Amino acid sequence: MDLRGCIFDLDGVIVDTAKYHYLAWKRLAAELGFEFSEEHNEALKGVSRMASLEILLKVGGMKVSDEKKHELADRKNGWYVEYISDMTPEEILPGSVEFLEQLRKEGIRTAIGSASRNAGTILDGIRLRGYFDVIVDGNKIHRAKPDPEVFVRGAEEMNLTPSQCVVFEDARAGIEAAIAGGMKCVGVGDPLLLKRADIVIPDMRHVTVEQLRNL
Ligand code: BG6
Ligand code: MG
Repeated sequence: MDLRGCIFDLDGVIVDTAKYHYLAWKRLAAELGFEFSEEHNEALKGVSRMASLEILLKVGGMKVSDEKKHELADRKNGWYVEYISDMTPEEILPGSVEFLEQLRKEGIRTAIGSASRNAGTILDGIRLRGYFDVIVDGNKIHRAKPDPEVFVRGAEEMNLTPSQCVVFEDARAGIEAAIAGGMKCVGVGDPLLLKRADIVIPDMRHVTVEQLRNL
């Protein structure tokens, strides 16, 4: 492919915030009186805050009013924000900085494509904002992954076409979003869970620009 840009999901790709999301959802479920396993949590990855809450409530077999939903989502977010409030660059996942530096050297543009409304806080905490030409987060988009909006907007803001971009994703919903947007996709994590990606790597130490050009 004619590789011109890379779009990175944030949570679970650049930084391991997926564990903090899980902790906060698990805490909410516990307050509501049910268990929320890591397996259940897989379906929440990459999904927006409200859509995640809907899935969680379904797991608990609960029906609540819209007002209550907002209150529960706010409670979860309060805990989550507390967990991410003192993040440092040490929490950046291995290989990310080196790979971003290599992309810069080769003149390949970089974007964040995240569903999170907290992406800015995280990028500041880990001091990585300057590595991205474009940041598209949950505050800019209307439709959550698996809708491709976040990645399509990322490509547009980099002035590139989808076919010139590769997406990096740790979530099934994100991989579906990349495919729907007409982009190649690198899964980061478990190959069994991320079957629909073009290639799957354990982390960013295991990818090269040449490998992406061959996709
Ligand atoms: C995604 C995470 O990046 O952002 C999801 O993978 C999360 O787990 C979503 O629900 C929304 O995040 P936030 O920070 O706006 O609640
Ligand atoms: Mg993710």
